[in-house]
Amino acid sequence: MIVILNNKCNLNKDEFKAYLKDISEIKTKIDLVLCPNFLNISEFKSDKIILGSQNVSAQNSGAFTGEISANILKSYNVKYCLVGHSERRKYQQENYHEINQKIKKLLESNITPILCIGETKEERDSKKYKEVIKEQLLSAIKDLSLENQKKIIIAYEPVWSIGTGLIPTNNQIEEIFSYIKSYIMTNKILYGGSVNETNVDTLKKINLIDGYLLGTLSLQEK
Ligand code: 13P
Repeated sequence: MIVILNNKCNLNKDEFKAYLKDISEIKTKIDLVLCPNFLNISEFKSDKIILGSQNVSAQNSGAFTGEISANILKSYNVKYCLVGHSERRKYQQENYHEINQKIKKLLESNITPILCIGETKEERDSKKYKEVIKEQLLSAIKDLSLENQKKIIIAYEPVWSIGTGLIPTNNQIEEIFSYIKSYIMTNKILYGGSVNETNVDTLKKINLIDGYLLGTLSLQEK
């Protein structure tokens, strides 16, 4: 079981120090991966929690002002990195090609990509959701060897569920997980979107679930 904590654009330096102290006290046997903002990555210290990143450049290190490459992340001991989060697809217009490039750069640096995919409310209502998920998935793994494809963790995060309190039924999630497995067989699959202490008991019963991707809950006091 793996749980990814996505801090998003939250926690200044002092807040992060207090937060890290707080979550370091959690006793758990699961793999807990923390994805702070880029600056807080350099403040991270823990022997229990694993370090992740929320983003990476699609470029190698070099003349790319404002970018952080996979090689730089690696030097900070980053082990996992989110790619294609719906907020980046929406606000930074991150496209299929960039997402595919980012995955390649991460794999070259031995950082595990966590590919986020999921449909909007309109896409679900118009029954286009499977088509959308297939396109997001296949474009992201384009030109990757089977061996590299297997290294990617897939996070199913329906856009309509993120930060809304709405979650799909277990049947709806299982349908998507099986669909994902029909294209990319051996990968770990996570669910993300409005996961909280109450609904996690229901989500735990999902067939094929390997863990969760948490936004709001990652910031709550323990
Ligand atoms: P919430 O848990 O706030 O819905 O956010 C989910 C998410 O976007 C994690 O990446």
